[in-house]
Amino acid sequence: MRRFLCLMAALLLAAPAYATDPDIDNGEQLFRSNCATCHGLSARGDGPMTAILQVLPPDLTLLRGADGVFPLADVVRQIDGRDMMLAHGGPMPIFGFILEDQSGVVDDVDGTPVFTSQAVVDIARWLESIQR
Ligand code: HEC
Repeated sequence: MRRFLCLMAALLLAAPAYATDPDIDNGEQLFRSNCATCHGLSARGDGPMTAILQVLPPDLTLLRGADGVFPLADVVRQIDGRDMMLAHGGPMPIFGFILEDQSGVVDDVDGTPVFTSQAVVDIARWLESIQR
């Protein structure tokens, strides 16, 4: 029994981390070319399209919750369209091609792997890096 428990502990410790490594510079580039027109180059919600938008883009440097934690998996779902937002094109995401990248993974708060494209991981991780 003890040997079994030791084996289980070893397996748990060796459990693979699924999250893929981000390329934050790539995330910034993708944001500049796909999102800044509405959200602004510094992501504070001041892009040129705001002149004609009826719903204004929020300041994406203030996404941390009251607990101080950046909602990484939620942000991934907002970018890749699973959390559907009309402002992002609803069922026809206006930047859908960034989903055609190789697959990428982030961990949800409970450790569940959330699969998306690596481009979305890069953008979400860049956003995480600019929280203030
Ligand atoms: C056409 C303008 C437009 C473009 C382009 C756009 N967004 Fe948005 N985005 C918005 C608006 C407007 C909202 C607020 C929607 C709402 O509240 O219903 C929003 C909301 C968001 C949110 C949710 C923020 C929150 O407070 O929960 C995230 C994250 C986000 N956008 C990221 C992105 C990223 C990343 C891109 C590029 C891949 C992008 N957006 C492209 C207009 C845009």
